Amino acid sequence: MLTAEENEMFTRVGPGTPAGELLRRYWHPIAIASDITEEKPVKFVRILGEDLVLFKDKQGRVGLLEDRCSHRGASLSYGRVEERGISCCYHGWLYDTKGNCLECPAEPKGSNFHLTVKQKAYPAQEFAGLYWAYMGPQPAPVISKYDVWARTDGWHWIRALPTLDCNWLQAMENSVDTTHLHILHQELVTNGFTVRGTTRGTIDDLEKYEFYQVPYGIMKRRCFTDGTMEEHPIIFPNLLRQANRTQIRVPIDDEHTWVVYLHFVPFSEGPKPTNGDAVPVDYRKPFKVPANGAHPVARYTMTEVDGQDFMAWETQGPIANRARERLATSDHGVVMLRDMLRNEIEKVRRGEDPLNVMRDPDHPIIDTALEASLRAEKAGSVTYHIPRHA
Ligand code: FES
Ligand SMILES: [Fe+2]
Repeated sequence: MLTAEENEMFTRVGPGTPAGELLRRYWHPIAIASDITEEKPVKFVRILGEDLVLFKDKQGRVGLLEDRCSHRGASLSYGRVEERGISCCYHGWLYDTKGNCLECPAEPKGSNFHLTVKQKAYPAQEFAGLYWAYMGPQPAPVISKYDVWARTDGWHWIRALPTLDCNWLQAMENSVDTTHLHILHQELVTNGFTVRGTTRGTIDDLEKYEFYQVPYGIMKRRCFTDGTMEEHPIIFPNLLRQANRTQIRVPIDDEHTWVVYLHFVPFSEGPKPTNGDAVPVDYRKPFKVPANGAHPVARYTMTEVDGQDFMAWETQGPIANRARERLATSDHGVVMLRDMLRNEIEKVRRGEDPLNVMRDPDHPIIDTALEASLRAEKAGSVTYHIPRHA
């Protein structure tokens, strides 16, 4: 159980909030790169509670600016893109990708007023088929080289999930919640397990489980009654590395999260599908009807693993009230994650870099035990497979 104050501290993501400041120390994916095209060069993006506009100018440079124009506040996501940048469609104030104002066309001839205007701008870059943003203090770190992201002996593909209508921490706590797999997903994650009844699901196949700290997060280990074992980690602060992918949970704002999976397939397991250079993208349909509804109006798809998870996370509420929870022994992974979060928030308060902020562009690849997961899957010895969705 947390106090109401701690719950606020862990969940709020806006500027100046403790978790918001922590999360601003990392690069986050904000859009699918192939969604920004010559025909559609502008996209509204909300991230960490800030409204921004992502655009590519006609020189191919990418910018990420505050959406609200410095002049009188119209949205730049309706702006016109040209060689020099994006021009607000209201009075034509023209901004480059760094937020410099290059022109205020309605000002008197010869006016240098535009030189006094600066639109808030954040660094953005393309990597692995995604655009990434950094919204923290300068100098910006580098995108951390986790094996799934940084290995070059294979190819990436992306799965973009529908917007998750709840706070980011609910998804992360679920990733250190080993037992739910055997109850919530009992009908779907069945490989090698026996359902012993609706209440127990397949929990009796789980002999023991533990969590231990690794340099980049928390490793989960599960030991099954048939003598097999499985491990995979969460990567602090907002990634789950499971099988050949990272599940990235990007806070949109306090009550919404973008979930995007970035997969790595070694060439030894198959060639990249031929679609030019573009990273393949699988856009998932909403897991509920109506798609923008909230519990109890919305009904969730319970015939897919991701749909079941979305149900469990969203029905906890837009921000789970941890002041009324009853944690049990089986929740010790959740407690460990919260302790880690508390420590890392403290580090940021002291002016230190939190866990997994990397500054050396040549830092060694961070081994998240991906290879072991790939080998296990190849050998057919993994204890379960999350079914691939059609
Ligand atoms: S509001 Fe953008 S130019 Fe006037
Ligand atoms: Fe799950």
